[in-house]
Amino acid sequence: SAAEKGGYDSFMLKEIAEQPRAVADTLLGRIDAEGALTLDEVRIPVPELRAVEKVVVVACGTAFHAGLIAKYAIEHWARVPCEVELASEFRYRDPILDRRSLVVAISQSGETMDTLMAVRHAREQGAKVLAICNTNGSTIPRESDAVLYTHAGPEVAVASTKAFLTQLVACYLVALYLGQSRGTTWGDEVRSVIRDLAGIPAALERVLAAVEPVRELARSLADRNTVLFLGRHVGYPVALEGALKLKELAYMHAEGFAAGELKHGPIALVERGLPVVVVVPSPRGRSVLHGKIVSNIQEIRARGARTVVIAEEGDDAVVPYADHLFRIPAVPTLLQPLVATVPLQVFACELATARGNEVDQPRNLAKSVTVE
Ligand code: AGP
Repeated sequence: SAAEKGGYDSFMLKEIAEQPRAVADTLLGRIDAEGALTLDEVRIPVPELRAVEKVVVVACGTAFHAGLIAKYAIEHWARVPCEVELASEFRYRDPILDRRSLVVAISQSGETMDTLMAVRHAREQGAKVLAICNTNGSTIPRESDAVLYTHAGPEVAVASTKAFLTQLVACYLVALYLGQSRGTTWGDEVRSVIRDLAGIPAALERVLAAVEPVRELARSLADRNTVLFLGRHVGYPVALEGALKLKELAYMHAEGFAAGELKHGPIALVERGLPVVVVVPSPRGRSVLHGKIVSNIQEIRARGARTVVIAEEGDDAVVPYADHLFRIPAVPTLLQPLVATVPLQVFACELATARGNEVDQPRNLAKSVTVE
């Protein structure tokens, strides 16, 4: 009913708007008075965390994209090798696991059969399993060794939005906790990242306040067949997520590519007028990547692409090559997916509406996939 949607046209729009709150709630109770990380709820003893030799993240769909981003954070802060695999592939590959493997299973519903089968398989091999889950008492956390709940609240729309952002927050916390436990990230750095995370809800409010032009652009593209998404580093999974949203909701051909792969094939797809959404890394920090992406934007535009650029406030280098430019607040590189994903969610939602699609219940999809 309209009341349940809180005045929004769809649950999806409502859930997009709830993201600042969902992120804040997922941080709540996990930071102590001194600004340090407290994850005692993850009942894996520190000596076991120190003994971990590899982390394997398993998940499906949007949760898999959160896992791809987790890899950057885990390898950066915890300095432990991390693989990420689709749960449906992992189970049948005979993966190499033992007591020193930590498997992180990410699932909003906690009922996804592919992910559950991966969890069971991992535990049979002796691996420890940590679930990141949004649904209290669901099957995946019940069958795991430990759980870190996301506090997104119930997600009704089939397309995942707020659950994804909170999965990212949980992944950052796990990466920091691993780093803290293993002594690869010191208290000061942990506290500084926690401060940055605590600033994300306000940054998200600013992103949400500025989405109207994204909606306008989406409406103008309603008759297109294809949209491509490019990103690099943590922006690459964001591109994949933007493309998945568009497939699910707008039933359009949408693909995400690693920008560095362009010249290895995908650039052949670029033709006059093709909309290409580019997620631009911060010009601070990894400035080498920033420069490379700016060249990519230049290259595709020279071949006729209509460039839709998502870039940090104050990033002037992209201005000459952006047909459409959407600004996101400057946040540390690893955290950028939290702010960069939101315009892509709005874009897909609005395009779906403009094409007359049912946003909350896309055709052929179920909220939770409980069969293999
Ligand atoms: C997201 O928009 C999708 N509907 C889907 O990919 C989903 O993320 C996937 O099925 C995993 O679900 P889970 O998080 O409940 O395990």
